[in-house]
Amino acid sequence: MKSTAIANSNIALVKYWGKRNEKLILPFNSSISMTLDGLYTATTVEFSEKYKQDSLSIDGGHIFGEELSKASVQLDIIRKLAKSTLKGKMVSRSNFPKSAGLASSASGFAALTLAATKALGLHLDRKELGIIARQGSGSACRSLYGGFVEWQKGTLEDGSDSYARQIAPKDHWGELAMVVSVVTAKEKKVKSRAGMAQTVANSPLYKAWLETVEDDLVKARKGIKEMNFTLLGAIAEMNCLKMHCTMVTTTPHIIYWEPQTVSMMKEVMAMREEGLECYFTIDGGPQVKILCLDKDVKKIEARVRENKDVQKVYLCHAGDDAGITKEDLF
Ligand code: DP6
Repeated sequence: MKSTAIANSNIALVKYWGKRNEKLILPFNSSISMTLDGLYTATTVEFSEKYKQDSLSIDGGHIFGEELSKASVQLDIIRKLAKSTLKGKMVSRSNFPKSAGLASSASGFAALTLAATKALGLHLDRKELGIIARQGSGSACRSLYGGFVEWQKGTLEDGSDSYARQIAPKDHWGELAMVVSVVTAKEKKVKSRAGMAQTVANSPLYKAWLETVEDDLVKARKGIKEMNFTLLGAIAEMNCLKMHCTMVTTTPHIIYWEPQTVSMMKEVMAMREEGLECYFTIDGGPQVKILCLDKDVKKIEARVRENKDVQKVYLCHAGDDAGITKEDLF
């Protein structure tokens, strides 16, 4: 009745932005991500008659309100499958700042789904796990797999064909690195969920986003399969900029960038001009993630660390699948 899972965060190279079904969390477009080693969430879930209600603690703090109810709804989906009415205690820890655009909801809901299904004795494959994890947070289905992952949008109304699959395992491209620079650890003001709904509702550029994303997916898949860094990097950077264009043209405007974000983007462009090949990507927050190859990573990391705005740097490579661990958090 108790189980602990660990899931790595993932960063999209072709982004998910916009839902065709808000309740089931079905996206308008497929997305492709890299699962990161070293940025993870561990979650222990225990179901027991001794608990009168579901409870959630994240990084040592008790969580109530919307965040607890989202986790509880996730447990409801799993309880229904396992035909259980037991309440659950959820304790979660991440080794990176929450809600700052480093995909804590992805690793969080992937770990929660894996731990809770195991704790209730369900043996599900990763496709089934993905369909459940996706309903907690869309990007979470991608964190179930290591390496390079595609969340296929699916077309069915019930969401049974909307789940993630691995494009390539982590060892396929061990030289690909991501330098994650934290320029502020402040929590973001507009959560991705509300932000993408507003964008779909009124950004005049959303249609253009959907029209061009299919081509990005084809090129990103090819870039990963053929380990063509220039192709993948250029697509990832442009795709990120296109997503942010839909955000800033939303009413009210959603601008996740801080001045430090823009200065880091320019630094990446400057390094590239100097012959250090690297590309940026940015999610629903101010942090800049820099894609590069191991041969240049030391120089690039040093340049990032020199920037006075940078508070923390994580050097990541493609990480492992989510999995069960024996080390319970309580
Ligand atoms: C910008 O998966 O956090 O990081 O499904 O509403 O929980 P919900 O949203 P979430 O959105 C992630 C958006 C993104 C792009 C991406 O990771 O693909």
